[in-house]
Amino acid sequence: MNRLVVVSNRVPAPSAGTQAGGLAVALDGLMEKRGGLWFGWSGVIAAGAAGRPAMIERSGSVEYATIDLTQDEHDRYYNAFSNSVLWPLLHTMPELMQYDRRDARVYREVNARMAAALQPLLRPTDLIWVHDYHLMPMAAALRARGVRNPIGFFLHIPFCSPDVLAAAPEMTELVREMLSADLIGFQTDNDVTNFAAAAQVLAGAMRGPGNSLFFGGRRIRLGVFPVEIEARSFAARAAEMAESPAVRRLRRDLEGQRLILGVERLDPTKGLLQRLVGLRRLLEKRQDWRGHLTMLQIAAMSRKDVESYRALRTALDREAGALNADLGEPDWQPLRLVARGVERSTVAGYMRLARVGLVTPLRDGMNLVAKEFVAAQDPADPGVLVLSRFAGSARQLEAALLVNPHDPDAMADALDSALRMGLEERQARWRALWAAIEHRSPLVWGRSFVAALLRASTLTVAKT
Ligand code: G6P
Repeated sequence: MNRLVVVSNRVPAPSAGTQAGGLAVALDGLMEKRGGLWFGWSGVIAAGAAGRPAMIERSGSVEYATIDLTQDEHDRYYNAFSNSVLWPLLHTMPELMQYDRRDARVYREVNARMAAALQPLLRPTDLIWVHDYHLMPMAAALRARGVRNPIGFFLHIPFCSPDVLAAAPEMTELVREMLSADLIGFQTDNDVTNFAAAAQVLAGAMRGPGNSLFFGGRRIRLGVFPVEIEARSFAARAAEMAESPAVRRLRRDLEGQRLILGVERLDPTKGLLQRLVGLRRLLEKRQDWRGHLTMLQIAAMSRKDVESYRALRTALDREAGALNADLGEPDWQPLRLVARGVERSTVAGYMRLARVGLVTPLRDGMNLVAKEFVAAQDPADPGVLVLSRFAGSARQLEAALLVNPHDPDAMADALDSALRMGLEERQARWRALWAAIEHRSPLVWGRSFVAALLRASTLTVAKT
């Protein structure tokens, strides 16, 4: 079996501490089972990082190779270009972009430096799998160093339409560089369509047979690989945690009120402010809910050096305070906001306790929280998932109550229906949702990408 080399910005190396986030969660199981090399950033910022080779550690069958970043690299590559340009742009929120071409230059330099540090660790038969928007030029940077191994790229976040994409001057070049890979994977059909259009319109690629493109005399495969969760083990964990002290405490505290739960990183794409407007609208329209429900919003502070995240935190604090002040009673508050991370197992238990899972991003590549909420439910008395139609997972979780997060009345009505829904309908919806996730797993997801990469690389070579 060829060795798998995963390249991602975040690496859950033993020395890096816990790094939550969809990407690391999805890949962890695959790497543990299959073994291989995982390369990326150490999570450390260090002066003089630029000259040093990768640091190697091993845990079980996985070897981790990481490099540190300098403060300037971290500011420009991670905070600025990745998270203040690519993240908002690819989520179709160009108004949040903070563009500066110097950041783009450092973003490229870091990709080139990572490629240089990775190259000496590679073996001729390795399969290389690059992840996410931090590393869009990585395949090209490796090819520029003479690396001929099969390279796959997977984008965990959405890919916007070409006219939005053009707002950042680098995008044409970045799309060309992505085309150095043999296989490019996305979460949904929509992302493939947008990328194929961008590759043709901006980069001059040609549509090939099936889901493929011709570019630079090579054929590049595109594919849809929706990220999955380990549904059965998450379900078992949620059931087990239902009687944990933390979950018991919350249950006692709620005193029979219905729990609406939101869980995410505090991020402008997640629709947190819109969600509070929806809750406010519900409590204004249906006053009988006052005193009978509590919304718990866990919004773990994230990317705190990025301006739009700090601004969101301030706005969220203000709106949460206003909501409780305007609608609360001396003995009841509609909202509990927690801006710290909560342990995943405890969250699983909270999910099982909740009557409603409220997952309403403005735009999301996939959203694994929605899948986790489904897995966490008690089949005999399941809660209801209210899900944004702009989350990638809405394409699989069609039995959820799908909402437009921009429409407060639609949110309020969906919440009202979810809170009132009878047992039979809740069970029927839950069964359909469970059927959509039950037989899938991150392992199968990873294996199907790797199998497609092997097929795609023979295809690229055959056409070269
Ligand atoms: C998303 C991205 C990942 C990222 C994660 C956490 O899931 O797709 O690439 O690792 O968010 O964000 P952070 O900036 O903390 O790595």
